[in-house]
Amino acid sequence: MTQQQPGAATGASALGLIRPFVRQYSSRLIGGLGALLAVDLLQLGIPRLVKRAVDFLAHGTASQIALAQSAFSIFLLAVGIAGCRFVWRYLILGFSRLVERDLRDDFFRHLLTLDRPFFQKKPVGAIMALATNDLGAVQLAGGMGLVACADAAIMGIAAMACMAYISPRLTLIAVIPMPLLALLTRVLSARLHRRFLKVQEQFSHLTEFARSTITSIRLLKAYTQEGSQAESFNRLGRQYQQDNIRLARVHGTLFPISGLVGNISLLLTIFFGGRLVIGGAITVGDFVAFISYLYMLTWPMMAVGWVANLFQRGLTSLGRLDEVMKANPTLADPAQPLAFPVGQTEISLRNLHFRYDGQEQPALAEVSCVIRGGEIVGLVGRSGSGKSTLCHLLARQYPVEDGVIFLNGVDINRLSLAAVRERVAYVPQDVLLFSDTVAANIGFGNPEASQEQIEAAARICRIHEEILGFSEGYQTRIGERGVKLSGGQRQRIALARAILLDRPMLIIDDSLSAVDLETEQEIISGLATFLPGRTCLIVSHRIAPLRDTVRIMVLEEGRLLAQGNHAELLATSPFYRTMYHQQQMHRHREEEL
Ligand SMILES: Nc1ncnc2c1ncn2[C@@H]1O[C@H](COP(=O)(O)OP(=O)(O)OP(=O)(O)O)[C@@H](O)[C@H]1O
Ligand SMILES: [Mg+2]
Repeated sequence: MTQQQPGAATGASALGLIRPFVRQYSSRLIGGLGALLAVDLLQLGIPRLVKRAVDFLAHGTASQIALAQSAFSIFLLAVGIAGCRFVWRYLILGFSRLVERDLRDDFFRHLLTLDRPFFQKKPVGAIMALATNDLGAVQLAGGMGLVACADAAIMGIAAMACMAYISPRLTLIAVIPMPLLALLTRVLSARLHRRFLKVQEQFSHLTEFARSTITSIRLLKAYTQEGSQAESFNRLGRQYQQDNIRLARVHGTLFPISGLVGNISLLLTIFFGGRLVIGGAITVGDFVAFISYLYMLTWPMMAVGWVANLFQRGLTSLGRLDEVMKANPTLADPAQPLAFPVGQTEISLRNLHFRYDGQEQPALAEVSCVIRGGEIVGLVGRSGSGKSTLCHLLARQYPVEDGVIFLNGVDINRLSLAAVRERVAYVPQDVLLFSDTVAANIGFGNPEASQEQIEAAARICRIHEEILGFSEGYQTRIGERGVKLSGGQRQRIALARAILLDRPMLIIDDSLSAVDLETEQEIISGLATFLPGRTCLIVSHRIAPLRDTVRIMVLEEGRLLAQGNHAELLATSPFYRTMYHQQQMHRHREEEL
């Protein structure tokens, strides 16, 4: 099972997350608490009026007018209570919703600052659970939890004061069982925290499992794995339910015990209070009023358990959110970024080593080369040789050491992240499209682009004609992640999106692998004409489409094995020659079939 994180061990330090919002909405909070105080004070008036009426009756001095006066006063109090209740609900519950909204905004904004290494560790489902379930728990604690706590405190103190006014001795007797409740709450709250943390973590697993199942539904069906997947889901769901029951067992103990304590107080009051009435120390009206106050005290007692539960949940969830809020992006801007050098962009790698976190083998080692401004260079190599890694580094997705990557002679670490990213148009190997229209997908990075510009990019990528053939042309919606398109169409739309950005550097990571060879070759050959002056790095697992590029670099096990144009490499690199001939043979065999 997931280990308890230090950050989640206590939510108390995480309170800092909501402190600024509490300050910002303090007038709402103070107004709400004021209305709550008014409700409680007005409520305390009712037993006093009841006492008056009972004493009139007991002494035989009751008149119709006196009774009507008491009734009317109670009515006025009741109306006042209802009005104030509305006000506190509106203000305090509104406060908790505002805090929730701002916290969610902050959380989202912070997520956007984090980079690949973070998301590699934290699954999307877990993040979604935080943004829904955990934020919900914080909202509940900041709304109803706060109300119940304030209400219980005000009511508890005020009711006890009124009881003490009637009889201090009887009050002392009535509150004898209460410390038991405080002790119990203290003992149980640690357990409550642990079990709630487990519940929330299990919910994260459940959410992540559902998300990954739904996003890979096609694969699942192709491999007829629906049954086993449903079974795994069921197992996770059962675990979640059991964790919830274990949690319910804890707060299920708190509630009945709070009620029991209240009833023990009542029986003590009836016995000892009754004796005081018999002895003439207090009147029957006092006795009735005292019991009414005791009932008022029952709610705060019950609330102790409930509030402890709500606060503990809120704090636990806040701790879980805080863990993400404390995560820093692994890439940061330098303290004093240099201006990006003007002109065509030259990329130079100097003895570049790179190892992924937690991996023993470097993904890239001793890579040194220069891609001059405006050059179109191909990159080939076997699977796992480090091609994508190099693309990630150039697109500034992972941190690199100082002095290994230079753009126009300036160390990449001396430039701001945005300055570099704004100059790179990057097409990742796994194409990502949005559930929107074709036009919106191509124009994603450049919302100002005109229809002509979008079409021009599509033409460069040899996809324009096919788009026109779709039912609604460029306005055709492509379904979730582009499910309505073929693999090659998706890749070319993703490439068009990058080309439309018209940036000085273009990095294409094997993004035409599903396109037929001739089309890939046509597109790559066209780049020199359509994108003059742009520095392009084109990864391809097929050599043939790269034949016309000025230079091809060959990676093998993270090392730059050879570089040169196609003819040179055929002549000098046995590795390249073998790779090329194998691909040619494979192609001829396919053509013969
Ligand atoms: N995020 C990652 N974390 C850890 N190791 C990784 C990660 N991405 C890649 N690797 C490892 O780094 C090495 C190089 O991977 P890379 O993706 O760069 O290969 P590639 O040349 O692009 O392969 P392909 O042609 O299959 O796309 C591989 O051994 C791979 O297992
Ligand atoms: Mg790759």
